[in-house]
Parts: sequence; structure tokens; C-alpha cells
Amino acid sequence: MTGAVAFIVFEGGDGAGKSTQARALFRQMQRSGYPVILTREPGGTPLGESLRRLLKNRPGATPMGELFLFLAARAQLVQQVIQPALQKQTSVICDRFTASTVAYQGYGRGLDLLAIDQLNLLASSGLSPDLNILLDLPPQSIFDRKTGAQRDTFDAAPQDFHQRVREGYLAQVSQESSQDSSHWLVLDATRPRRALALEIWQKVRPLL
Ligand code: TMP
Repeated sequence: MTGAVAFIVFEGGDGAGKSTQARALFRQMQRSGYPVILTREPGGTPLGESLRRLLKNRPGATPMGELFLFLAARAQLVQQVIQPALQKQTSVICDRFTASTVAYQGYGRGLDLLAIDQLNLLASSGLSPDLNILLDLPPQSIFDRKTGAQRDTFDAAPQDFHQRVREGYLAQVSQESSQDSSHWLVLDATRPRRALALEIWQKVRPLL
């Protein structure tokens, strides 16, 4: 099937079900005949996957060190995977992108938001999603959804960190909704999985 290509990103706190919904959309698009790839951040390239393992399992990076590792993974992914796919008329679904950095390193860790915007722009080569799908979840649910052994560096962060991350996402949504065209779809992540998948597909289909 030919149509427009779209760059669609799933965002949200840890344990919100992003990966499940990203996979569901990927399968739906494939079934409907749209060329599409599914990738993730940090990750999606050999270097990015190594950085992912480091970031998730080895606490100890300073907030600034952490920021640059995420940005390095992003620069690699954009140039090696996302841009080439879009140029070949293949849509891209990505599990997290620039809004994660604003929410986690900006609001969560307290790094300068203006600097993060500029670094995000650089690392992403100016590419921004056609649609960000935010699976919004109260921080308490993160603890309920993942138990001790499943928790990585970020899941195990204190609840007020996750609260700030959530506020960081909602701030980005409200900044954009004051503009004419918003690139956000905000969904309550506690809703049933199938209902979420259906609403996501209804929003994405007209973009293709
Ligand atoms: P996840 O892909 O399993 O959600 O794990 C990725 C973790 O990395 C998650 O806790 C969010 C965090 N993260 C950041 O802190 N900043 C970023 O820019 C990105 C992409 C992820």
C-alpha cells in the first residue's frame, strides 16, 4: 500500500505499556500493508543497544553524563535507522524519543530545559515526530506494575522522580496544545489494552 509515511513515537513513564502498544500498532500497520519498522530508544543500533544496557543496569552516571549517553544513542539511531527508513517511504514507530529526554533528564533530573531542547535538536538532526502517543500513568502504578527483580535503574528511582517525569510529559503536551496543531495523543494507560490499541489505530490511520 502506498500513502504518506509517518514517524510515530510512544512516550510515557516506566511500566505504562508503551512497548506493548508500539508492537500492536506495528502489527496492525503491517497487516494493513503499510511499510513500517519498529525501533526503540535508547537502542535500535548496535551502539545504541550497548548504551541501553549500560544506562539501564549500571547506576552511577551523573545526570549530565546520562544525558549525553541518551543523546549519543539518539544521534546514531536517527542517522542509521530512522532517516534512511523515512527516505525509503517506510514509516517508523519508535519506543521513546526526544520528549523522554525533556521529561527524564529535564524535569526528572533537573537539567536545564533550554539546553536539552538545543541538544535534542542536534541529536535528532531536527527530526520531530508526526505524532507522540503519551501513555499516561500515575507514578504509584509503576511500583505496582513492576516488582523488585524487574526494576532497572529508572524504575527503582523514588516516586517523586516519577512524579516529576509525569509532570514533564504533561507540560510538553500543554505547551503544544496552545499551538494550532498538536502532535500529541494523550491516553490513560490504565484503560484496557485493546481499547487503547483501537484508539491509537484510529488516530494513526488518517496520517498514512
Ligand atoms: P524503557 O525503554 O524500558 O522504557 O527504558 C528506557 C529508560 O530510559 C526509561 O526509564 C526512560 C529512560 N530514558 C531517559 O531517561 N531519557 C531518554 O532520553 C530516553 C530515551 C530514555
